[in-house]
Amino acid sequence: METNIQTMADHFKKLVICLVFVMNIIHHQVHGERVGFNKVSLTYVTNAVCLDGSPAGYYYDPGFGDGVSNWVIYMQGGGWCGSNGSCRYRLTQETGSSNYKNQTMYFGQIRSENQTENPDFYNWNKIFLAYCDSSSLMGDADHPNITSRGAVIFDAIMQELLEKGMANATNAILSGGSAGGLAAILHCDGFRSLLPNSSRVKCVIDSGFFIHAPQLHGAEKRAEYFANVSAYHGFTNNLAPSCRSRMNANLCIFPEYILKDIQTPLFLVESAFDEYQLGYHYVSDDPNFLNCTKNLTLCTPSHFQSMKDYGVALREKLEELRGSTSIGMFVHPCYRHGHFYEKLGWNASYKLKNKTIAQAVGDWFFDRSSLFQEIDTDNVYPLARNCTKLPNI
Ligand SMILES: *[C@@H]1O[C@H](CO)[C@@H](O)[C@H](O)[C@H]1NC(C)=O
Ligand SMILES: *[C@@H]1O[C@H](CO)[C@@H](O)[C@H](O)[C@H]1NC(C)=O
Ligand SMILES: *[C@@H]1O[C@H](CO)[C@@H](O)[C@H](O)[C@H]1NC(C)=O
Ligand SMILES: *[C@@H]1O[C@H](CO)[C@@H](O)[C@H](O)[C@H]1NC(C)=O
Ligand SMILES: *[C@@H]1O[C@H](CO)[C@@H](O)[C@H](O)[C@H]1NC(C)=O
Ligand SMILES: *[C@@H]1O[C@H](CO)[C@@H](O)[C@H](O)[C@H]1NC(C)=O
Ligand SMILES: *[C@@H]1O[C@H](CO)[C@@H](O)[C@H](O)[C@H]1NC(C)=O
Ligand SMILES: *[C@@H]1O[C@H](CO)[C@@H](O)[C@H](O)[C@H]1NC(C)=O
Ligand SMILES: *[C@@H]1O[C@H](CO)[C@@H](O)[C@H](O)[C@H]1NC(C)=O
Ligand SMILES: *[C@@H]1O[C@H](CO)[C@@H](O)[C@H](O)[C@H]1NC(C)=O
Ligand SMILES: *[C@@H]1O[C@H](CO)[C@@H](O)[C@H](O)[C@H]1NC(C)=O
Ligand SMILES: *[C@@H]1O[C@H](CO)[C@@H](O)[C@H](O)[C@H]1NC(C)=O
Repeated sequence: METNIQTMADHFKKLVICLVFVMNIIHHQVHGERVGFNKVSLTYVTNAVCLDGSPAGYYYDPGFGDGVSNWVIYMQGGGWCGSNGSCRYRLTQETGSSNYKNQTMYFGQIRSENQTENPDFYNWNKIFLAYCDSSSLMGDADHPNITSRGAVIFDAIMQELLEKGMANATNAILSGGSAGGLAAILHCDGFRSLLPNSSRVKCVIDSGFFIHAPQLHGAEKRAEYFANVSAYHGFTNNLAPSCRSRMNANLCIFPEYILKDIQTPLFLVESAFDEYQLGYHYVSDDPNFLNCTKNLTLCTPSHFQSMKDYGVALREKLEELRGSTSIGMFVHPCYRHGHFYEKLGWNASYKLKNKTIAQAVGDWFFDRSSLFQEIDTDNVYPLARNCTKLPNI
């Protein structure tokens, strides 16, 4: 009898454990998108650190089902710093220190586990690389009280992921938003070379096409700004050799000069009226222009003309890439910067060729349709649209 009770108790215990396990799975799938913050193990590279010396890290949501051997990496953005002062400021921000990162992170959009929202990548291994080097993961330099180790962070995290199973990936995507999108451009071929046995490796760039556009107002400032960033973080001479051999190396951070030389297929998701570039890289002489970029109802006709000029220049640069058979693009006129943070960006009802961004990226990745290179036409939407205002967009 005692044994029976013992056995029953054991069964009950197992049942409870089993139920808790199932509940956890259900919980994980319903609410599921809180994923713990993993710090890069110092075992691999001892100096994979943020600007303040804290260990760099990433959030990881393991793949399941038939997605276990597929990997998508998303690199967070957060601008750059290119001077002692601006980098020192970032020592107490999440863009310069792990101490200010959230311990858990909501995984949505291309990182969502919800098959409806993310039909092509929901069960992949999903990584969110937490930005804390302010150099688009390119830096390797020392300054008083500031360690710039972006390139080291990238290598260390890739090494760790390869060991976690990415070395055997069937499909892989390197993506990123804003400064992380620029990082995905700069690291795209390097990422490909880490995965020689994978059948499909591609890069998806979310609002990372920062323009130089020499013909457009502010070009000198844009060039000087990025020259300061690459010099401060010590990576000017690590930019693409093919570009550096034909022009001023400082300019080789601009995608318009390097994209054509990238061998790995790459997809650009861009607004023709990029909110961040207009606010911070256009460099208007009119002090009220910045107010207009933050609240479109304050814009004057001359501000709108400036936005239009910027949109025309950006689209011109993108048009130049049309000849490429490996570059896809989704370029829309909604006023925004970044699409993979918010539902609104990833699955906006705004469509090109009857496809949302999620569909265009998925079809392109799996070669389900012909090369997607859609740029909205100036005739239809000559001006930036505040799409959050419109009910369906
Ligand atoms: C998945 O996303 C769809 C569309 O956004 C939503 O209706 C559904 O409730 C989500 N499912 C879960 C399990 O969260
Ligand atoms: C940063 O500060 C150090 C020490 O004060 C100085 O040597 C260095 O030139 C500064 N760097 C820049 C880019 O101003
Ligand atoms: C961190 O968490 C706070 C509070 O939930 C949230 O407002 C913020 O957006 C989060 N930061 C990131 C980078 O997700
Ligand atoms: C996009 O959102 C709509 C409703 O907002 C939903 O019906 C649809 O399934 C979603 N599609 C994707 C690919 O997320
Ligand atoms: C570096 O940090 C130390 C300790 O906080 C401080 O005393 C020193 O002035 C800092 N040096 C520079 C160049 O900022
Ligand atoms: C890759 O696959 C091989 C063969 O199945 C296996 O031996 C190896 O451990 C795998 N590597 C990783 C990093 O999972
Ligand atoms: C690629 O596959 C070959 C043959 O299976 C194997 O010898 C090699 O180690 C693999 N390379 C990587 C980086 O996994
Ligand atoms: C570039 O750095 C120089 C020297 O620190 C500074 O004077 C200049 O304002 C910086 N330019 C931009 C556009 O940030
Ligand atoms: C623009 O913003 C500045 C400060 O943010 C403010 O002082 C100024 O009045 C604003 N101009 C307009 C036209 O609103
Ligand atoms: C934008 O500016 C208008 C006109 O000044 C004002 O009524 C509105 O509240 C502002 N909107 C926001 C979001 O600040
Ligand atoms: C766009 O419209 C939304 C909703 O009315 C508003 O909150 C937001 O401030 C607007 N954005 C700009 C840049 O005007
Ligand atoms: C647009 O796509 C939807 C499903 O994604 C499809 O049902 C519809 O027929 C398409 N419309 C056109 C005009 O191709």
